Amino acid sequence: MKEAKLRLAGSVRAVALTGAGVSAESGVPTFRGSEGLWRNFRPEDLATPGAFERDPALVWQWYDWRRKKISEVKPNPAHRALAQIEKGHPGFTLITQNVDGLHTLAGSTNVLELHGSIWRVRCTGCGTVKEDRTLPIKTPPVCGCGGIMRPDVVWFGEMLPEAVIEKAFEAASNADFMMVVGTSGVVQPAASLAFRAREAGAYLVEINPESTPLSGIMDQRIPGRAGDIVPGFL
Ligand code: OAD
Repeated sequence: MKEAKLRLAGSVRAVALTGAGVSAESGVPTFRGSEGLWRNFRPEDLATPGAFERDPALVWQWYDWRRKKISEVKPNPAHRALAQIEKGHPGFTLITQNVDGLHTLAGSTNVLELHGSIWRVRCTGCGTVKEDRTLPIKTPPVCGCGGIMRPDVVWFGEMLPEAVIEKAFEAASNADFMMVVGTSGVVQPAASLAFRAREAGAYLVEINPESTPLSGIMDQRIPGRAGDIVPGFL
């Protein structure tokens, strides 16, 4: 921890890459943990364009369940510590796979949401994107143009928003320090950002109670919960 902390202190272009594990202690179920299941559906079976085409109401019911859960929780010490770290490091970029908005709620401002936001909807007809925090949401919500609205999140098999992924790769390519927190590191292209930072010569730290496919490229693995470990960087 001491070495990792010194590396962060000395960095000018630090990056944090976060996943569902960072929100786990807030009470948001992770995707691959057993509590991530809803009515026995796996996320891979619901978070797809095909599932939405077949049954938009079912997919929206799942998102409504997740939106409700997220609306009831608060940022935890890990989210808050990351927001504090940004304040002390002007070049800091936070890249998250989470769609819950908890990083922003905790005060982080330079946030790249790779997988979109659960609090936005997008029209499958005219493409209009807007914030919608209605709970429960009418399933499926309908746009003024008559098109069905979908969650503005990235599903399996879909491209990530181009501008966001470009910025994320740029940050990783220029990083001198990267903290990888609470991600299983199995979903691309998010996981490859750690490899990009490695190639750029960044110092890599992983914070996760479990080892992951990214563990092997880390300079330091700190096994433990994000809420216990990340505040130690302050
Ligand atoms: P996963 O559910 O795959 O992984 C969560 C990771 O967090 C695991 O490695 C856990 O060991 C770790 N973890 C659990 N509790 C933790 C804690 N308190 N502190 C730190 N780590 C903890 O979630 P992601 O890696 O975020 O994509 O999943 C990546 C993407 O796959 C998601 O964004 C989503 C999903 O399907 C899309 O929806 C496109």
